[in-house]
Amino acid sequence: MRLVLLGLPGAGKGTQGEQIAEKYGIPHISTGRIIREAIASGDGVGPLVDSYITKGELIPDELAIQMVYERLSKPDCKEGWILDGFPRTVPQAIALDQRLVQSGLDVQMAFDIRISQGEAIDRIAKRRMCSNCGAVYHLKHYRAKGKGVCDSCGGDLYRRSDDTEETARKRLTVYMMQTHPVVHYYSLDGRLYSVDGVRPIDDVFADIDHYLQRLTKSNSVGEAQ
Ligand code: AP5
Repeated sequence: MRLVLLGLPGAGKGTQGEQIAEKYGIPHISTGRIIREAIASGDGVGPLVDSYITKGELIPDELAIQMVYERLSKPDCKEGWILDGFPRTVPQAIALDQRLVQSGLDVQMAFDIRISQGEAIDRIAKRRMCSNCGAVYHLKHYRAKGKGVCDSCGGDLYRRSDDTEETARKRLTVYMMQTHPVVHYYSLDGRLYSVDGVRPIDDVFADIDHYLQRLTKSNSVGEAQ
């Protein structure tokens, strides 16, 4: 399965990506997370990408494409993957298609998780992340059981540096200008499935999962023929 998750900042791409990965046994690849890890590790590109992220801007296409290509060449991606946060521009979407076509593959489906801008700002303001394992919580909808610590690993919870209201608003503007055209890109050849993201997390997942079950069935029928 080769899937892409689209949606405004805070739409729930990371949350759904984790659930899909767990159920279908394919890696959830978040470019935001790869970038945050590069910053934290003091990697060579860390300071450069940090300067974009903290302003709520996109890192340059060439860098994002290189990061994703590197990740997709790892052995765990052989049976498929879910990309979260990539592609974020039409040139990134074209580069991904060009890369896949060389191996006779394609992006099978892009899921557009839809929420309003007001909901996005609210969710971002209440999001907390685990500093150790990256698990995502929400102060109201998905609270950690312990105070300020992760349920899974006990790591400290923190607020992302780009989750201030000002940066979140900038990220929404950037999304509408640079990423929204990607939704149109996938709709042109029928590779887009829109999901109402303003429902409980499990209901959103049930919708996506229902679609994926049909996709898996139709693929296995195709293989059997
Ligand atoms: P990235 O980390 O990808 O951020 P984003 O796209 O802005 O998305 P978020 O992580 O904010 O939200 P999400 O949709 O994953 O929502 P989540 O599941 O956490 O990118 C960060 C930055 O990196 C970018 O701004 C850019 O600078 C750079 N970057 C990344 N990729 C790039 C690329 N390809 N090219 C260039 N630059 C790139 O959920 C949000 C909150 O809501 C959580 O608290 C969660 O618990 C809660 N929640 C989730 N679902 C629900 C629900 N159904 N109901 C109620 N609450 C919910």
